[in-house]
Amino acid sequence: MQHEPRTPARDLRVETRLALLGRGEHGPGQPLNVPIVPASNFRAPVTGLGGRQYSRDDSTQGWEALEELLGDLEGGRAVCFSSGMGAIAAVLEPLPIGSRVVVPRDSYGGLRALLADGATGGRWQVHTVDMTDVDALADAIPDADLVWLETPSNPMLEVVDIADVVAQAADAGATVAVDNTFATPLLQSPLELGADLVVHSATKFIGGHSDLLLGAIVARHDEDRQRLVRRRQVAGATPGALECFLALRGARTLALRLRHGQETAGELARRLQTHPAVERVRYPGLPDDPHHTRAAAQMSGFGAVLSFEVADASAADAVCATVEVISHATSLGGVESTIERRAKLPGQEHVPAGLIRLSVGGEHLEDLWADLDAALDATHTGTTSDPEMRRNG
Ligand SMILES: Cc1ncc(COP(=O)(O)O)c(C=O)c1O
Repeated sequence: MQHEPRTPARDLRVETRLALLGRGEHGPGQPLNVPIVPASNFRAPVTGLGGRQYSRDDSTQGWEALEELLGDLEGGRAVCFSSGMGAIAAVLEPLPIGSRVVVPRDSYGGLRALLADGATGGRWQVHTVDMTDVDALADAIPDADLVWLETPSNPMLEVVDIADVVAQAADAGATVAVDNTFATPLLQSPLELGADLVVHSATKFIGGHSDLLLGAIVARHDEDRQRLVRRRQVAGATPGALECFLALRGARTLALRLRHGQETAGELARRLQTHPAVERVRYPGLPDDPHHTRAAAQMSGFGAVLSFEVADASAADAVCATVEVISHATSLGGVESTIERRAKLPGQEHVPAGLIRLSVGGEHLEDLWADLDAALDATHTGTTSDPEMRRNG
């Protein structure tokens, strides 16, 4: 006997929905987890074209389960892609030639690289805006076809008022897409604030274990979802079955991981503010952060990523080379804390030379603080920045 997948009501709390959704069929003998089906090809009917036949063309079970969960969390219809960049490209590349895109100055470098390539080839006109400058933003939006937001932003943790941008974009007839990777669907709901599309690098907090690449878009309107599914089919940025399985498994613990990481990040931010080697901490959870009020109004928490500044690039490199508990690695959102000096890239002149981004994972607060404190002390007093020396001494 077939049992319909049971979709619990949306008024269940998020922790419960994370545990319940995307489970497939609920009949006796059915597995609790949707199985990994490593198939590109499915048996075809002898007549007609109906049914699932080739996995780039249609959803597979693993995608559907993850999409059910992400769609529910964001309050829209989700489509998964092979990476966050695959998702970003699926929003940008179908834009008509000459489209005007407003993009934050402070944003993920891959997005800006894709936009720059397209702009060079005459695909679209890109207007890069300092989104902390509300007047510059208000000037840019009336000419836009697409307004891209990343809030909190990478790496400066800038926060933009989504509802305000949505209102301005509505007057201009522009689409609003929000990269919600840092906040996750648990801390910020851009669709509820009026955005059209939410984009995720599920590689980060949703997957949570630094073992996969995956992206997702959640659309407010079903027509947008249909267009995105079509885009995935024709452009081929399809997610792998194993990646979807792992991302869904990671997402099950998102609330637990994020609560811990966020609490630790808040306390580390406060302690870093008091360290003599630290010139400035950027974390919207700090009451004196310039983005605090805005973040408190539109987010239900401040997240598990922070940035802080030390004297210069070589001091930042020394901190990154000296930490032992925290991994010196790019990316973020893993159960292991990662630290990285943000190199000054073209278009990133606003990023201070000594800026370090820290993604806080599941380790104990005191172990992380001891690690950071020792690395900062070593840089500050010039004791040593050689990890071998510290290990031995
Ligand atoms: C905010 C943000 N959006 C998108 C991406 C791109 O995602 P992916 O690496 O999964 O392609 C990243 C990657 O670091 C990111 O930090």
